[in-house]
Amino acid sequence: MGRYKDTYESWKRDPEGFWAEAAKEIDWFKPATKTLEVKDGLSRWFVGAETNSCWNALDRHVKAGRGAQAALIHDSAMLGRVRTFTYAELLDEVATFAGVLQRHGVSKGDRVLIYMPMVPEAAIAMLACARLGAIHSVVFGGFAAKELATRIDDAKPKLIVSASCGLEPGRVVAYKPLMDKAIEMSAHKVSGTIVLQREMEEAPLLEGRDFDWAYEVEKARAAGAKPDCVAVAATDPLYVLYTSGTTGKPKGVVRDNGGHMVALKWSMKHVYDMNPGEVFWAASDVGWVVGHSYIVYAPLFHGCTTILFEGKPVGTPDAGTFWRVIADHGVKALFTAPTAFRAIRKEDPKAELISKYDLSKFEVLYLAGERADPDTIQWAEKALSGRPVIDHWWQTETGWPMVSNPMGIERLPVKYGSPSVPLPGYEIHVVDEACKPVPANTTGAIVVKLPLPPGCLPTLWENEQGFRESYLAEFPGYYKTADAGYLDEDGYLYVMSRTDDIINVAGHRLSTGGMEEVLAEHPDVAECAVIGIADAMKGQVPVGFLVINAGVTRPAAEIEAEAVQLIRDRIGPVAAFKKAMVVKRLPKTRSGKVLRGTMRKIADGVEWTTPATIDDPAILDEIKAVLRDAGLAKA
Ligand code: COA
Ligand code: AMP
Repeated sequence: MGRYKDTYESWKRDPEGFWAEAAKEIDWFKPATKTLEVKDGLSRWFVGAETNSCWNALDRHVKAGRGAQAALIHDSAMLGRVRTFTYAELLDEVATFAGVLQRHGVSKGDRVLIYMPMVPEAAIAMLACARLGAIHSVVFGGFAAKELATRIDDAKPKLIVSASCGLEPGRVVAYKPLMDKAIEMSAHKVSGTIVLQREMEEAPLLEGRDFDWAYEVEKARAAGAKPDCVAVAATDPLYVLYTSGTTGKPKGVVRDNGGHMVALKWSMKHVYDMNPGEVFWAASDVGWVVGHSYIVYAPLFHGCTTILFEGKPVGTPDAGTFWRVIADHGVKALFTAPTAFRAIRKEDPKAELISKYDLSKFEVLYLAGERADPDTIQWAEKALSGRPVIDHWWQTETGWPMVSNPMGIERLPVKYGSPSVPLPGYEIHVVDEACKPVPANTTGAIVVKLPLPPGCLPTLWENEQGFRESYLAEFPGYYKTADAGYLDEDGYLYVMSRTDDIINVAGHRLSTGGMEEVLAEHPDVAECAVIGIADAMKGQVPVGFLVINAGVTRPAAEIEAEAVQLIRDRIGPVAAFKKAMVVKRLPKTRSGKVLRGTMRKIADGVEWTTPATIDDPAILDEIKAVLRDAGLAKA
């Protein structure tokens, strides 16, 4: 561990000096007066500095002669189409759309909500906001109107940018009606919307409120409205991205401009071993943090070519799609969730489709978003002829990896089941409930010593109190990751589970508490519990247990189907909630706490013991029987 150790130690000796040095890679309009300011437990990086994220993603590269290089390649496996934007072209599109936003009254500090499928216009809208110093909030297309409404009410956007539809295998997903419904449901009223009409299904526009993307762009182009980058403080928010918390109310993770740029640019070289001019592909969605950081911002800050892929790892048209994209565009590194590889493996167990493609430029596969099971990693290593398969660990809150095999610093030995070692910026500890470090190989809560490095969330959107309560209160002096695991004797981290009710479904982060809140609204449901159970493809899937009100005589199957539909309507198809089961009663402790952990162990077929505090042990047998009847108990 020579170079890694030296780099990590140099950060630890002088964290501010380390990040001040990394900040030299960024163009600043005004330098920082203070690298780090910690006030009342909250930290802010590059105080006093002024900059612009769009400038650093686009303008500076064009100015430096990179204008003719591909900046963004939209590869739609759904449509069999590829569209390439050079840096100069992308800058022109972004500046023009910034002109559109400006004409619609958007200026520095205003929020713009973006609800779009995987089209280049999503990235263009994000960068156009950054250009004006407006704050974007992207919402993943798989969320339903209610979730969208919650975000509208929290972020209070001036404008919504959306599209008429998205494409899922076998169906066109109409986005516009969901947006309309969300606008109707929300208390905050947006002043207008801009809608990208896609030819697969155009949407009717409401006179005076909805504006057509293409028409507006044409108008701005004719008027030559291409605003320059607006100077923002390094500490000003670039975006708010909502992520699941322990209740139905999502958390608005704030990302600043300066620290975000410094950290992301640094990570491209030191974590992902990428050089300017090379092709990086994060197969995720712009609605998730991976999409924000590694489809849009980091590759562009670094002068790379990024791929925006509309499709799935399988079925669009087959399990060779990922290899086709890698070969067609000369991808050097791919980043995706392990679930994508489990899906590919299921369809093409011997990875025979790879031989059809030229993967000579491909060097490394990065995995994150959920625990990477050793079996999947080993299968991928073999399929990829021994190329490195690198698990790494991070969260929406951090915006970039906390723990990884630092490929651009030094390739360390892989230990299966571990995302490897803490990166500079992160002092990781595993502690007990009293915040005392536990010995090596002992499981505990994973925490990060404060201050968090640049790029991590400085706070939650208009909710500093919530930020303190969720992340800082439980372990004083540390950031609570809400993950549990252990460090081994070599300092490798093993991330095993969450300490809250969050589950990971196909790499998507979801709150079971949020699902319970929805189910509880069903008029026939007296009580409910949702747990995540192991799933061979998606990692985890949610299942619901419903206790029905006394006197209800309708068939259980009817109520179960309604419960499934309710989650789809309220949270969205992304919840992958396909199974609800009526039970007589829920297992509880004597103090009334539902024994979700024990239920999960029963379903997953892992060893479990009857908790000493249980109210009535017979209920666990009832649950076991229900799971067995539903074909869900694994033992
Ligand atoms: N808009 C509308 N609906 C969407 C959507 C979107 N952007 N994304 C997903 N959905 C829908 C899907 O159509 C599906 O609906 P269904 O219940 O009617 O079939 C549901 O949400 C679940 O989607 P998904 O999780 O994608 O499951 P899937 O069965 O369609 O595909 C995988 C399974 C493994 C192929 C898919 O999950 C995948 O590609 N995962 C990669 C992981 C990933 O990208 N993670 C992001 C973080 S890195
Ligand atoms: P998200 O905020 O959606 O990126 O989800 C973050 C959560 O996903 C983490 O807190 C972990 O629970 C889980 N996660 C992400 N990456 C990994 C990984 N490499 N190994 C284990 N869990 C992971």
